[in-house]
Amino acid sequence: MATVTDIIHVPQPMPLDQVAYRFDPSLFLSRHDENWLAQILPYAQRVLSILGAKQGTLLDVGCGGAGLDMCMAVTSDLHFMCTDINDDNVAYASESAKDCGLQDRVSTQQADAQALPFEGNTFDYVMSTQSICGWHNPQKGLEECYRVLKPGGRIFVRGFGDRFRNFWDILCDTGVKDFEMVHANDMSWFTIDKPAERS
Ligand SMILES: C[S@@+](CC[C@H](N)C(=O)[O-])C[C@H]1O[C@@H](n2cnc3c(N)ncnc32)[C@H](O)[C@@H]1O
Repeated sequence: MATVTDIIHVPQPMPLDQVAYRFDPSLFLSRHDENWLAQILPYAQRVLSILGAKQGTLLDVGCGGAGLDMCMAVTSDLHFMCTDINDDNVAYASESAKDCGLQDRVSTQQADAQALPFEGNTFDYVMSTQSICGWHNPQKGLEECYRVLKPGGRIFVRGFGDRFRNFWDILCDTGVKDFEMVHANDMSWFTIDKPAERS
């Protein structure tokens, strides 16, 4: 079902001193400054909670330097496939994963959102943040995200600015039935759920 939800109350992030780090944060801090980490960790926790993701595989489409992925790796056991159309960003993300000691759980690959080089039903979760507005054909990109998502999986997309109506129409045109657009006081996003296969 397609729905719009307004959220007034933003969940409280986990205090940073209670974060159970899955890697040595000092490695991470060799690349990222402490203030940035303090800002992005609550955001990373929030995205994980919206996705309902703790383990499994996550595809990031348009990852940039993949800082968000590294932070999401801090508080989850997820395995990440970080993709971007830009080779330099992919190279940076790959180096960053090595520096953080996360190369076992963070892979990288150059990919265009509109032609993802993965088999159908591959990933438990797909996310894309601050990228979709740069895709020439966002409908095709979303159809690709949906194609590679496993049944029972969820897509999280953020970064469509004030083009909310425009993206509502695009989502309707993809034919996906189960999506939710959410407006919180500090950010907007949408999720798409792929129905689980019946046994
Ligand atoms: C503003 S950055 C966002 C990076 C990161 N996701 C974040 O939230 O910080 C947008 C990224 O989308 C990538 N991008 C743009 N068009 C793309 C496409 N068609 N397929 C994959 N990535 C794309 C850009 O190369 C860039 O790295």
